[in-house]
Amino acid sequence: MDEEVYKKYKLAGSIAAKARDYGANLVKAGKTLLEVAEKVEKKIEELGGKPAFPVNISINDVAAHFTPRKKDSTKFQPGDVVKIDVGVHIDGYIADTATTVEVETDRYGELINASREALENAIKAIKAGIRLRELGKIISETIKKRGYRAIDNLSGHNLQRYLLHAGLSIPNVPEFSLTKLDADEVIAVEPFATDGAGHVISGKESNIYRLVKFPPKSRDKTRIYAGKLRKLYSTLPFAERWLEGKFTNPHNLLEDLVRKGYVISYSQLIEKGRGMVSQHEHTVIVTEEGCEVIT
Ligand code: CO
Repeated sequence: MDEEVYKKYKLAGSIAAKARDYGANLVKAGKTLLEVAEKVEKKIEELGGKPAFPVNISINDVAAHFTPRKKDSTKFQPGDVVKIDVGVHIDGYIADTATTVEVETDRYGELINASREALENAIKAIKAGIRLRELGKIISETIKKRGYRAIDNLSGHNLQRYLLHAGLSIPNVPEFSLTKLDADEVIAVEPFATDGAGHVISGKESNIYRLVKFPPKSRDKTRIYAGKLRKLYSTLPFAERWLEGKFTNPHNLLEDLVRKGYVISYSQLIEKGRGMVSQHEHTVIVTEEGCEVIT
């Protein structure tokens, strides 16, 4: 890997790790999700990075894809199982990492350990030449041993410059694939464990958006707005609340761009059996002998 690129990944990784741990420590009963999300995003900027996506704070049976809106007053409750998923980029080079905390109670410690251990075991096995199927097997078997299920339709992914999901899926179950990992590949591994069905379905909106297409030249403002979004976030996901102060009516603007197909709005991913979900994630650089965890 190019030395400059490597340095950027390492810096993104160290900032993401600090922001993740900082966020996990902020999660307390009575605090709002919004406060935690905004503080973590501010921390990322203070440390010299940029958020690669809005901080995801997904609670209980919401496995992933939720960030609070500016007006959201939802507070953490005792017993909540909270996933904090953080992305940081330096010049487009992304590190993606997540952890899970339970608020005040300790009923889901074993569930949380299951995804943590699955991630550890996968990392021990990663090296150039390993088949993705093998990683999926390690992850799902580790989780199964603790009495839980891996979520079969959520997966890790490879990362490329300004691309959070660059095409390769790192499965959490041994699905049929002959694909092998190559040295220098940057991948995010993210096992999800649940006491539910082991599958997620789409739920309500996540408040997370992404520019997916660029409008043709026209007289209306659409192209100007899309251009501004592209300049701000490139092809990376963003939150509606990030647009406040930058656009006059962000909500209407986004509705319009989504309707026209230039922006997509992500849905929350909900556990199908309404089970509790825990998640752990690290970004690693694959090497010939193993891998380097950068988060
Ligand atoms: Co990820």
